[in-house]
Amino acid sequence: MYQNQAPLAFPDGFLWGGATAANQVEGAWNEGGKGMTIQDCLPFREPDLNDYTKSFAYTSKDLEEALVAGPEANYPKRRAIDAYHHYKEDIALFAEMGFKCLRISICWSRIYTDPRDPEPNEEGIAFYEDVFRECRKYGIEPLVTLSHYDPPLALVTDFQGWYSREVIDLFEKYARTCFERFGSMVKYWLTFNEVDAMLRHAVTSGGLIEDRFPGMNFEEVVYQAMHHQMVASAKAVKLCHELCPDAMIGCMMTRLCFYPYTCKPEDNLATQQRMRGIYRYVDIQVFGEYPRYLLKEMERKGVHVHMEPGDAELLREGTVDFVSFSYYMTSCMAADTTGLDMAPGNTVNGVKNPYLPSSEWGWQTDASGLRFSLVELYDRFRKPLFIVENGLGARDTLEPDGTIHDPYREAYLEEHVRAMSDAINIDGVDLMGYTWWGCIDLVSESTRQMSKRYGFVYVDMDDYGNGTQKRYKKDSFAYYQRVIASNGTDIDR
Ligand code: BG6
Repeated sequence: MYQNQAPLAFPDGFLWGGATAANQVEGAWNEGGKGMTIQDCLPFREPDLNDYTKSFAYTSKDLEEALVAGPEANYPKRRAIDAYHHYKEDIALFAEMGFKCLRISICWSRIYTDPRDPEPNEEGIAFYEDVFRECRKYGIEPLVTLSHYDPPLALVTDFQGWYSREVIDLFEKYARTCFERFGSMVKYWLTFNEVDAMLRHAVTSGGLIEDRFPGMNFEEVVYQAMHHQMVASAKAVKLCHELCPDAMIGCMMTRLCFYPYTCKPEDNLATQQRMRGIYRYVDIQVFGEYPRYLLKEMERKGVHVHMEPGDAELLREGTVDFVSFSYYMTSCMAADTTGLDMAPGNTVNGVKNPYLPSSEWGWQTDASGLRFSLVELYDRFRKPLFIVENGLGARDTLEPDGTIHDPYREAYLEEHVRAMSDAINIDGVDLMGYTWWGCIDLVSESTRQMSKRYGFVYVDMDDYGNGTQKRYKKDSFAYYQRVIASNGTDIDR
């Protein structure tokens, strides 16, 4: 258990809250004029916890099957937790917990049924307007991700995902619509969720299905698609500054954190290299240019990325106002992993750390790693930070009397709050806020399970869609309520 060293204290106005993403909560996949996204086409598969790549493996055949699948087929994101119809009730529960901030994402395909449409879908706009109005009614600041792992399906079928340069303009049009129509209600924006992730799961981040690029070097395809996303992100940042001058727009990275497995110098170097693999695109979004190590990496791999005249200038002009990140766990890195135990994590595997406990999904939880990460990121970027995802996925039991006892979730939250407080008060980190991931149970990204639950609010539904969808407060609901009410100072359990 992490024990804070300085007295617990958080700045006034600290944005406590929770986070979700459209594809993991909304459901209503074919309602309200929404077009399909790639997420609507990902089937449920019994997860292999030691190999996350199996859940993300995806071929054109999988897509063909999805397009003809009937209602009996299990595509969990199509129903999610039906927040599309429950959002008022859900936001009221978040307000009861005292949320100051709610991170959601907008589904591009609700705003433009087909990304090529000249006009937006007014029904989709009205839906999000009402969500934001509902938040504002309770004094909750929305924090909005423009793209959270749900590329419109047309980008996959009629374009080559983010590999197609035309997608930049389509995204710019979508971002402009969001800023113009929601800018009066939303002050905090993020461009792409976990912007480093396309190299790990190209389908959900980039709309890229490998077999649709025959004879091509798929790694090069991904780097090219990433370049387009970088330009699109820079354009969105510029637009936001122009259209919503009082707003702040940030980037979002997966804070994967590796420790050297031993004090062998080669393990230390291997760790540094691995960490750079995570920083490379955030470095562009913060510093406005490709870092030299990324250019060298592409050169070494023989990867050629086509950049148009004007791209470099755009990247320079579209740097972000703050850096946000997800943080769940840490693991280790060794130069030679032969014979070492490996541990699964957030779409990566690492060497198992013998000093850390693991969640039921094998993720090694580590509150000290959060403080370590905050210091590292603040020293590197010198920008305000925002923890927009942190949490514990666990199996919960709904008792016959409607209660759910989840002391493990409270313990995880408690020690991460202690670590944050020290990062602020001892290390001087400028931290804007903290939004707990999956504040209401939702469909897991890596496993598509409902049974991997993060919420303070339980949703009665299983991995196969059985259940009433009724919402129940877990014990941790009251605990987080107390944490927020005391601005992070009354946290003893
Ligand atoms: C983050 C994603 O990587 O991790 C979320 O941004 C995801 O979409 C979260 O849900 C937790 O991962 P998982 O696989 O447990 O849902």
